[in-house]
Amino acid sequence: MNKDLIERKTDHINISLEKQVESKKSTLFECIHLIHNALPELNLDSIDTSTSFLNHKFSAPILIDAMVGGSPESAKINENLALAAEELGIGMVVGSQRAGLSSPSLAETYSIVRKRAPNIFLASNIGAAQLLKGFGKEEAKKCIDMIGAKAFVIHLNPLQEAIQVGGEPQYKGIINKIRELISQLSVPVIVKEVGFGISKEVAIKLELAGVSAINVSGAGGTSWSAVEHYRALALDNKEKAELGQLFWDWGIPTAVSLIETRRATKIPIIASGGIRTGLDIAKSLVLGANLTGMALPLLRYAVVSKDSLLSFLQKTIYELKTTMFAVGCNNIQDMGRVRFTITGELAEWLK
Ligand SMILES: Cc1cc2nc3c(=O)[nH]c(=O)nc-3n(C[C@H](O)[C@H](O)[C@H](O)COP(=O)(O)O)c2cc1C
Repeated sequence: MNKDLIERKTDHINISLEKQVESKKSTLFECIHLIHNALPELNLDSIDTSTSFLNHKFSAPILIDAMVGGSPESAKINENLALAAEELGIGMVVGSQRAGLSSPSLAETYSIVRKRAPNIFLASNIGAAQLLKGFGKEEAKKCIDMIGAKAFVIHLNPLQEAIQVGGEPQYKGIINKIRELISQLSVPVIVKEVGFGISKEVAIKLELAGVSAINVSGAGGTSWSAVEHYRALALDNKEKAELGQLFWDWGIPTAVSLIETRRATKIPIIASGGIRTGLDIAKSLVLGANLTGMALPLLRYAVVSKDSLLSFLQKTIYELKTTMFAVGCNNIQDMGRVRFTITGELAEWLK
């Protein structure tokens, strides 16, 4: 069983790197138009991208979102992600830690992150389905201790579980389990999707359950239907491969999910799912996100080297700064006051 889990994690990394696994549906950020300011009255090099999230300081509003750990190749990937996060002063979430609980050598593929990044905001991660299968307070504390986590992230991935060969699509009773775990942990709990988005109804339930922040992880980036489609094909499971194909573009576009969640709740929000440039980050902040998360693009650089990942992130931060200059905003907090307009399909969604 452990062997299956490790193989599945390796498959997910390889498929994400080798195949086209992104949604053909857009995040709809192209329907957001920030209003240009021809008189910004500030200098680009004085723009401050630092922010604070759950009482932790970030040099830029960026989180390396949950990806790997628990398979042989993931230690090096996590090490590069950690080194870049520490050097830049941004945050990171490790991949699901289920595998790390089963053996000390697998735990090291996660704990390497804290070793290489002693100062960053680092968060633990587990799939919600595990909460119904005996994963409770003790296991969560082990995950937190494994990496010196400042927060605990639970991912909701019902559709992925339904499509995955060997998946566990059991979600009855999940919200009560989330509420229970929150009351037992001393660190803040964040709930995220994995690329299909959070609706306003779900956001309200999560806020009422006591979660400290929501990561919307909407559609427009990595599609887990696509990843599981390719894995099912490789395993000769025609039914699941077809199911993955059918749901390839499922989900709430990230911009819609972010706007709905912002309108429905007051808690901090992380925008992720198809965030690819500093302009996407700026638009997320204007729509009310407190932080943004990126996964697949960072994986592609992290397998090459820490330096290539670092230059990509520096380029992204410079794009964010350029956008802030063009809208005349010299700090992250004021981004929520930038004027914008919504057109096209996004306007249709929000009707
Ligand atoms: C290779 C890979 C592994 C992932 N593993 C996890 C995971 O273990 N836990 C989780 O919460 N999300 C996981 N995700 C989902 C991401 O955190 C993120 O929500 C999603 O990929 C959308 O962001 P993106 O479009 O920037 O990739 C994974 C993503 C990738 C690409």
